[in-house]
Amino acid sequence: MERLVEIEKFDAEESTEVSLRPDAWSEYIGQEQIKKNLNVFIQASKKRQEALDHVLFYGPPGLGKTTLALIIANEMDANIKVTAAPMIEKSGDLAAILTNLEEGDILFIDEIHRLSPAVEEILYSSMEDYRIDIIIGSGPAAQTVKIDLPRFTLIGATTRAGMLSNPLRDRFGMSFRMQFYSPEELAMIVKQASQKLNKEIIQEASIEIAKRSRGTPRIALRLLRRVRDFADVADEENINHKRTKYALDELGINKHGFDEMDIKLLKLLISNKGRPMGLSTIAAALSEDEGTIEDVLEPYLLANGYLERTSKGRKATRETYNILNMPIDSEQGTLF
Ligand SMILES: Nc1ncnc2c1ncn2[C@@H]1O[C@H](COP(=O)(O)OP(=O)(O)OP(=O)(O)O)[C@@H](O)[C@H]1O
Ligand SMILES: [Mg+2]
Repeated sequence: MERLVEIEKFDAEESTEVSLRPDAWSEYIGQEQIKKNLNVFIQASKKRQEALDHVLFYGPPGLGKTTLALIIANEMDANIKVTAAPMIEKSGDLAAILTNLEEGDILFIDEIHRLSPAVEEILYSSMEDYRIDIIIGSGPAAQTVKIDLPRFTLIGATTRAGMLSNPLRDRFGMSFRMQFYSPEELAMIVKQASQKLNKEIIQEASIEIAKRSRGTPRIALRLLRRVRDFADVADEENINHKRTKYALDELGINKHGFDEMDIKLLKLLISNKGRPMGLSTIAAALSEDEGTIEDVLEPYLLANGYLERTSKGRKATRETYNILNMPIDSEQGTLF
């Protein structure tokens, strides 16, 4: 069965069904601080008729980074070229993209932490001086050619801010950390999407979906589509609370929004009987790299008080023991 709480890069259903992606500020819910600041910078650069400064968005998957980039392009009335770091293999690939840009265009590079060092170097000079040096030919006959670029805006997105090199990070005029969404915000996102899908959802039902969505719009929208299927099959005109709970339980969606990896991590910490566990031990036990655990897996658990970081390592909290129904006594006595 499809893992519903899994966070995937590609929203498969987006391509075949009604798009649920907001394309204006009014539909972009939450992230108030980011919206407020960005709006000021967008208005200012429009007033001066200049390209917007380079922008970096970072934070866990599915929180709306790509969506923000598209909204910026919309607001700036600019063309946007969308690409991802793994698609830019050689410096020549990046040079080709850059030289095809026009004044005021936006270049969006997803997963920007995955650029190779050679490509990154070309990016530095293009971001700072709007100029690149490319080498034509090889050996003693090789020549360096300087090419001037139009003023463009780079928007970078990454789930792994820790993996960005300092010189790259420093060249962004603005950088924004995405926040997890509150259940109320997610409920609004679900409600708005249900209108686009032409299927009304009652308030309690949207809150039920919101609570189980790991603070993440992408997950909330995916659950909404599945719950709608249940309602449609049952010939119900709208999505009610009872059907929603039934559907989410049938689908095995956790009440606290945990996904499989969250549960694995929390159970592992609990198995350590209250002693903190080091990051490298956790990484080895879960066969994941340390950075993914730190940047992708832990933020949600930390933000919601399910996990604690101490100088000696990670620990599950009392709440986690309760939720997972684990005894909080150990050989050393009570854990908390
Ligand atoms: N603030 C928001 N309001 C309404 N819908 C949102 C919001 N943020 C994200 N979404 C919806 O959630 C889905 C995922 O968002 P998006 O693709 O922008 O995430 P992302 O941060 O780029 O994820 P990834 O790191 O995996 O690339 C989109 O389909 C979008 O419609
Ligand atoms: Mg994205």
